[in-house]
Amino acid sequence: MRKPIIVGNWKMNKTIAEATAFIKEVDPVCHDGATYGVGTSFLALQDAIKNAKNLIIAAENCHFEDSGAFTGEVSVPMLEEIGVKYCIIGHSERRQMFGDSDETVNKKAKRLIKAGITPILCIGETEAQYDAKETESVIRSQLSGSLADLCPECVKGIVIAYEPIWAIGTGKSATKEDAQKCCHIVRDQIEKMYGKEAADAVRIQYGGSVKPENIVEYMACEDIDGALIGGASLKADSFKEIIEKTK
Ligand code: 13P
Repeated sequence: MRKPIIVGNWKMNKTIAEATAFIKEVDPVCHDGATYGVGTSFLALQDAIKNAKNLIIAAENCHFEDSGAFTGEVSVPMLEEIGVKYCIIGHSERRQMFGDSDETVNKKAKRLIKAGITPILCIGETEAQYDAKETESVIRSQLSGSLADLCPECVKGIVIAYEPIWAIGTGKSATKEDAQKCCHIVRDQIEKMYGKEAADAVRIQYGGSVKPENIVEYMACEDIDGALIGGASLKADSFKEIIEKTK
């Protein structure tokens, strides 16, 4: 049985004070129906971890090296020191704007796993790739690169977020049929790489304009175990509605 996991990705939003106010309001309404969490800025992580009893708190990136001349970066031991347990890697915004690639995402995944931090590893096709009917090959190739050379046991614990780039922040969400089909391809690719046991255990999220109005239909899909949510995770009211609807 896979426990659902629903995570808000705040991106570059919310000061420490705003993060604290959100967590104080939302944390008490979390329930056992799913794991709920939010990804915060590096700065807000420590206070968020202190304030959250139920929400899991995720970093939104990390560097794969432990230390060195990487101005502005944050390493996995630094996250480990403050008790971070989840870390989003390979988000399409990082791939598009900050040079993340399957190769660097793979290095980050390996380093996080070594530290016992769960990677929430993002993949997804662009609009042009979708139009060219390349979605399946993009998903398979991103997974074979970013999940390369791991052990089946490690892969079991990973969370994969399938986020079609054309659906991010656009209000244009994938149909539940398309989202299910793509999440099934994710599971199938993991089975090809690491076997059925790993594929059955891995939790797969859909992301891209998920909101209170459509969360239930995605969660009803066989291969969708949760959601990675941008815009609709920023307001406590809408995130609370999502929590309520996934009881
Ligand atoms: P939206 O929910 O705003 O489309 O963002 C999705 C996303 O990028 C989550 O990582």
